[in-house]
Amino acid sequence: MSERTMTATDELRSKVGMEFIIRFYRMLKGAIFYDRQNVVVDQYAQDCLQTINPFIKSEGNLVFKIARDHGYLNVAKIQVRADHYPIFRGFLNELKKRRIGEIEISEEVSQEHLKDLVYLLVGLEENNESNDLYVNKQLEYRGIRHIHLEKLEFFKDEEIDVDSEDQKRRSKEVYFKSIHLVKEIMENVTSQKVLNIRKAKRLMQNAVNLILRDDSTLLGLANIKNYDEYILNHSVNVAIYAIAIGQRIGIPKKHLSHLGTAGLFHDIGKTKIPKEILNKTEKLSPEEWNIIRAHPIVGTEIVIRMKEWGELSTRMIQGAFEHHLRYDLGGYPKLSQKQNITLMGRIITLADFYDALGRPRAYNRFPYVSEKILGWMMERSGKDFDPLLVKVFVNMIGIYPLGTLVLLNTNEMGIVVRVQEESEFLDRPLIDLLFYQDGYYQKGERVDLTERDITTGQFKRSIVKALDPNEYAINIAEYLL
Ligand SMILES: [Fe+2]
Ligand SMILES: [Fe+2]
Repeated sequence: MSERTMTATDELRSKVGMEFIIRFYRMLKGAIFYDRQNVVVDQYAQDCLQTINPFIKSEGNLVFKIARDHGYLNVAKIQVRADHYPIFRGFLNELKKRRIGEIEISEEVSQEHLKDLVYLLVGLEENNESNDLYVNKQLEYRGIRHIHLEKLEFFKDEEIDVDSEDQKRRSKEVYFKSIHLVKEIMENVTSQKVLNIRKAKRLMQNAVNLILRDDSTLLGLANIKNYDEYILNHSVNVAIYAIAIGQRIGIPKKHLSHLGTAGLFHDIGKTKIPKEILNKTEKLSPEEWNIIRAHPIVGTEIVIRMKEWGELSTRMIQGAFEHHLRYDLGGYPKLSQKQNITLMGRIITLADFYDALGRPRAYNRFPYVSEKILGWMMERSGKDFDPLLVKVFVNMIGIYPLGTLVLLNTNEMGIVVRVQEESEFLDRPLIDLLFYQDGYYQKGERVDLTERDITTGQFKRSIVKALDPNEYAINIAEYLL
């Protein structure tokens, strides 16, 4: 496939492929909530047929296939735009966890047959190797011979077990190991010892692998802002946000780990700022501000002096030097010559700004809520920040980020555990409800805020506002991890 040049028809297949994914995925999710008789499902099925049937009419069949992390429609690779990426990944995950790798439709289909297929898919057990055989048999019983499924193929370099508990455990491990590593490296920078660069690279490669599979745990960890050592957590969070943005805009895997490492050490220049200034709670004097504002330059000097970075050196400099420059160069350090900020620098700027404002620290006692920070970012889009990246970032974080404690209009309380893939539902994430029993809050049912009441068509639950977990003595990490 990769040897073929992209022809006009392949381009069209790719376009139809994405449309197929969007519509099929919506129908699949509809089928999770509603029963077959529901009008919503009928509407989604009809939309889906408008993509499927004309395509079959012109090509003779439709074969959607997953190979590695790509989707193909009739052997043409589906190109995914940044804003479609979450939907694309969501759809692939739904099929992958049911071990389905291919859907083939060899004749035009009716709405009822399509619904048969979707309800069979939705009812499948996760990770069952014979799911494809089961669905094919069921379709056959119903006389549907023109729809056929194939098992998901695994490739040698792919890890087979996509176990969510394991993913959580490994995400936590990478997060806390990274914190230790940043601590070690930052300490050694000041004492001029040899640095463990290899370990940094390895950890960031692991982080990339985890984020590519499912970024919810690492993003969740980054969103919990109640750790004590600001600079360490901040460094790791910036790396995680940066990788997560990078993957959404299609940066290749190898460069993602470089981006992560650059994010991890963007503030390395702060190791030279006296602790009294960094931790000062009173207003800083102009001289003290100057010292703080010098950290991008100091950081760049540190990186240049360290030979160990090798090929990573350029990326590290971009992170350290550019992260306060701003998109229109209105930040610091002031440049004598006009210069463009690199993509890596623009990504790290965004990640750094978001994380820095969202957490308590010496000169910022009251962390701002995410909604407010994202609002500022949108306001400053095109001035401080790259407008395209702001869009991607806002979609990624959602109005209520993972781990937000929220009050619902049903008077229930819950924690945001997953942000929706579709941007129209940014304010309707998945929530784990909490209920108060035996003196503390316990985790209850998981609910999806896009769910509607079947009779009235109204949303069953909506968020009224975000709550401060400290006020309720709730440790979010306990529930999220
Ligand atoms: Fe900084
Ligand atoms: Fe920073």
